[in-house]
Amino acid sequence: MTSKTPIYEGKAKKLFEGPEPGTLIAHYKDDATAFNNKKRGQIQGKGIINNKISEYLMTRLGEMGVPTHFIRGINMRQQLVRAVDIVPLEIIVRNYAAGSFAERFGAFEGEPLGSPLFEYCLKDDRLGDPFIAEDHIFAFGIADPEEMDEIRHYALRINDFLSGLFYGIGIRLIDLKLEFGRYYEGEYEQIVLADEISPDTCRLWDIATNDKLDKDRFRRDLGGEEDAYREVARRLGVLPSASVVESDVFAGKSPRAGAAKAAKPARKAPAKKTSPIKPKKK
Ligand SMILES: Nc1ncnc2c1ncn2[C@@H]1O[C@H](COP(=O)(O)OP(=O)(O)O)[C@@H](O)[C@H]1O
Ligand SMILES: [Mg+2]
Repeated sequence: MTSKTPIYEGKAKKLFEGPEPGTLIAHYKDDATAFNNKKRGQIQGKGIINNKISEYLMTRLGEMGVPTHFIRGINMRQQLVRAVDIVPLEIIVRNYAAGSFAERFGAFEGEPLGSPLFEYCLKDDRLGDPFIAEDHIFAFGIADPEEMDEIRHYALRINDFLSGLFYGIGIRLIDLKLEFGRYYEGEYEQIVLADEISPDTCRLWDIATNDKLDKDRFRRDLGGEEDAYREVARRLGVLPSASVVESDVFAGKSPRAGAAKAAKPARKAPAKKTSPIKPKKK
């Protein structure tokens, strides 16, 4: 991979020009940010792990018919993707209450929502990624109703598929954030899944212990974020071998043993008395 013309540097990834027209190289960094960039740090090895996890999940999603930007892996930190015109929305799908959502509605973290719940945020760092409703999306011309239908359709399939996939490895998919883009082939426009799917963009809880295996470890200063990310990669079967990673970012780290154990247990959801979320009638 020779071309290295930088295109854009985001909070978690750098984009370079790809070897063929219409392609980009996504380079995954160890930088971690939270609360709209107010909290910054590094998670050692995160770039490698997220690159591998995203590559794996996008490949599986592609196999079940979800169009994605992913073309192929390049190396430990880089993958080749189709350059798309990003729809500047964060598509959030929630299965359980957590984080800011739980706070906003006085729900308990880990409380099931009955059916997947969608939220949209405008991708705009300057404005702090504000919530946006479909009416605004249409009024501002960010996406049209047909595109939003497609985005919702794919987001639901992705959420269902990943919920099952993670369940199979003892992980509960609490919520996830997706980005979609427009991919043009001549006249033809297609909505495709873009960006990344990783412990940076999903809330992942160990089913047995409720341990958080995602960026909340960093957001909330829980510690053990490296081990948590590696544990997700290990369970998915994509943890790079020690010999490869030791020369890079894991140098000097103890071998991964009992990663999930190192993670502090999450707060257990208290009794449900005052929650606003009413269970659905069957
Ligand atoms: N296939 C793609 N084509 C074009 N842009 C993309 C693609 N996939 C992701 N991006 C964009 O790459 C940028 C860098 O990613 P990231 O560092 O995660 O950004 P952010 O700081 O917005 O989180 C983001 O603006 C993201 O929307
Ligand atoms: Mg990002």
